[in-house]
Amino acid sequence: MATTPTRTLQDGTTLPATGFGTYPLTGEDGIRAMVSALEAGYRLLDTAVNYGNEQEVGEAIRRSGVPREEIVVQTKVPGRDHAFDRAVASVEGSLERLGLEQVDVALIHWPNPSVGLYVDAYRALVECRERGLVRSVGVSNFTEKHLADVIEATGVTPVLNQVELHPLFPQEQLRAAHERLGILTEAWSPLGKRNAPFGADPVAAAAQAHGVTPAQAILRWHVQLGVVPLPKSSDPERQRANLDVFGFELSPDEVAAISALGRPDGRLFGGDPDTHEEM
Ligand SMILES: NC(=O)c1ccc[n+]([C@@H]2O[C@H](COP(=O)([O-])OP(=O)(O)OC[C@H]3O[C@@H](n4cnc5c(N)ncnc54)[C@H](OP(=O)(O)O)[C@@H]3O)[C@@H](O)[C@H]2O)c1
Repeated sequence: MATTPTRTLQDGTTLPATGFGTYPLTGEDGIRAMVSALEAGYRLLDTAVNYGNEQEVGEAIRRSGVPREEIVVQTKVPGRDHAFDRAVASVEGSLERLGLEQVDVALIHWPNPSVGLYVDAYRALVECRERGLVRSVGVSNFTEKHLADVIEATGVTPVLNQVELHPLFPQEQLRAAHERLGILTEAWSPLGKRNAPFGADPVAAAAQAHGVTPAQAILRWHVQLGVVPLPKSSDPERQRANLDVFGFELSPDEVAAISALGRPDGRLFGGDPDTHEEM
């Protein structure tokens, strides 16, 4: 079984350098896929209230036999629950569905700026951390402005920001902002999902040069950018391959060539956090 290096967050806790995305895994098939991911060696599971699979995540952890303390569990508060009390209740509900005493990283799923309550939701997550319900406080789909707002309001910097990031949308500017603030970048849709550029020249060339698959070349690109990717796969073989990206290194030119696939309109579905909202 592969061992994955860890990354240290600014609050001193650690996170595996690669995680496992659990959307849209549900039901018995979903549990099986998550157990197989844990057996392959994943120790970071990314879920959300809106994925409707927190029970399955908890069940997979118990069935896998992997000690709870070895697994980092992330979940996310949905947009409809940004009011302070509702956000606290959302975390409590997640704990109940997961069957856990504590969530390792609780995130705000989307900022939903037209609702205007993401600072309240963030305060609630800080309160949950103080009550021990949450180990670390993070966010998802936050822009630099949203980050500045929550930091100014609370004095607490999120440990991580989980954003859309793949070769077609490498988020160079936001990554630089994260670096200045000491925020870890996590990548959702790290392969680019249905638009995965497996056949693009820089990806195919890097894969061939290192004797790996195009998906492994892309996931290694994330690691070398300092990003924690969260690939999802239902297939045990692809799960294992996606985790096995620590035995080779891309050259700086290969990393730059893959980054050069980025385009201003490279988002998968127009998920600009200033305008795209999810409740
Ligand atoms: N915070 C947010 O707003 C947000 C938004 C979207 C996603 N997410 C998180 O990010 C996770 C991953 O995102 P995603 O599922 O959208 O995209 P992804 O991981 O980039 O792509 C998943 C797709 O790629 C396929 N795949 C996986 N490994 C492969 C490989 N080695 N070779 C070829 N195909 C492969 C999967 O099919 P198979 O399953 O058949 O292998 C699946 O169809 C989600 O599960 C979720 O946890 C968060």
